[in-house]
Amino acid sequence: MDKTIKTNPTVITIFGGTGDLTWRKLIPALYNLYLDKWLHKQFLIICLGRQDMTQADFLKKLKEGVDKFSRRGKSKKTEWDVFAKTIEYKKADFATTTVYTQLKKQVAAFEKTADCAVNKIFYLAVPPQFFESIAVKIGEAGLATDRKYARLVIEKPFGTNLESAKAFNKLLQGFFDECQLYRIDHYLGKETVQNILAFRFANALFEPIWNRNYIDHVQITVSEKIGVEGRGNYYELNGALRDMIQNHLLQLLCLIAMEPPVSFNADEVRNRKVDVLHALRKIKKEEVHNYAVRGQYDEGWVEGKKVIGYREENDVAPDSPRETFAAVKFFIDNWRWSNVPFYVRSGKRMSESISVITIQFKPVPHQSFPDEATDNWQPNRMVLNLQPDMGIRIRFQAKRPGLQMQLSPVDMLFNYSDTYTSGTPEAYETLLLDVIEGDATLFMRADQVEAAWDIVMPVLNNWEANPSVNFPNYASGSNGPETAEALIAKDGNNWIVMPFEKKDND
Ligand code: BG6
Repeated sequence: MDKTIKTNPTVITIFGGTGDLTWRKLIPALYNLYLDKWLHKQFLIICLGRQDMTQADFLKKLKEGVDKFSRRGKSKKTEWDVFAKTIEYKKADFATTTVYTQLKKQVAAFEKTADCAVNKIFYLAVPPQFFESIAVKIGEAGLATDRKYARLVIEKPFGTNLESAKAFNKLLQGFFDECQLYRIDHYLGKETVQNILAFRFANALFEPIWNRNYIDHVQITVSEKIGVEGRGNYYELNGALRDMIQNHLLQLLCLIAMEPPVSFNADEVRNRKVDVLHALRKIKKEEVHNYAVRGQYDEGWVEGKKVIGYREENDVAPDSPRETFAAVKFFIDNWRWSNVPFYVRSGKRMSESISVITIQFKPVPHQSFPDEATDNWQPNRMVLNLQPDMGIRIRFQAKRPGLQMQLSPVDMLFNYSDTYTSGTPEAYETLLLDVIEGDATLFMRADQVEAAWDIVMPVLNNWEANPSVNFPNYASGSNGPETAEALIAKDGNNWIVMPFEKKDND
């Protein structure tokens, strides 16, 4: 099938053309979509940036990015040269109206040459402080009047708290319909994250036990070995709670906890997810310490290399109160999940780079086996490995071979790399194609973003009002602060990390 028939002629304008996101993610993703024949032959990428660069220098830089970051590795000259013809670089000062009037002319000229409706996509790949002014100028210039085909893509963070997110939504609603707004949470584009929906709702096996009667608790860990990597300024303003928990981890939690959608219609899926956010128990401000802990990395060792602490990073205050680790215990107050803890944690400079969801089941209601058979006995457990290993592991009890009844846990493993030979698209490929096709299922709706802010606000306010007195409190290369262990240990649990490729079943 010719895949190109699915998409319309498209002009995509990237604000922040010389930025890291464009170089590392957007252009490699668009290039792969082009190679996979998802793009219409009439495709134009206008990159607007503030740097003085010739078209040739700009393309050279983009090609380096593709060679370095594309999942396919180095580009082929013939293919790149054709793709590069669709890219145009323009120096632009986003604060001036002429940028937008000229853009309007260019878009109109592109539309004139197309023989059908044209997607007009505006991508805000700029630092968050520029989101509002650029969005307003796009609106004022009349670039968004085509309600069906003009779309605005907004990177995270969407606001810095509930109030600012609400104000930004209100501002956007003055120029755009909600269906034109694509608020990105790139975790939702990841293959393994989308698979959570397939796993839960395309199988009859799991859904009947997916509730408080069988599940003891859920853990969601997104840990990274990297530090703030030159993003000191950004991190000083945001911290782990805003950067990771308010968006990526809460979205993962929603996918695990949501009710089955009636269909895969964008609003139906998003309604079911927002139901979860509304059911999350609001943490009382005086109880924050019982539900949330924070950490900041000190110097330490990562992959055999000595690394500096957060407070020594560029653009970070020597007495910075900002957290680089956060762990929160959530409860979802509804019939399905009443009193099941959902522990989430995320941190930088941890011992491992791993994103994993663990579903810990309850013990069997009655133990029929003699004590000596069950020495090594463990309740069932399901582990969804999102990255870097991709797969699902289910742990259950089996009889060890031998003349006596001896039970021990064994694992069933589904590993993407053993099962599929085709390459896995990058999150940005999926998400950009969805924007081009006008499918908002994997994007954040205004009410979702606000509900997610609402949930973290008590923690955020408490932490801002009471700077930690013991930062830094975890060594780089460790598993985070001891308080995170205590948070889960006081419920009789511990953070579970199971190696994915464990071969033996002992
Ligand atoms: C981004 C955060 O949203 O996600 C970064 O701003 C973080 O701080 C990144 O490193 C993690 O994404 P991934 O896809 O590498 O897990």
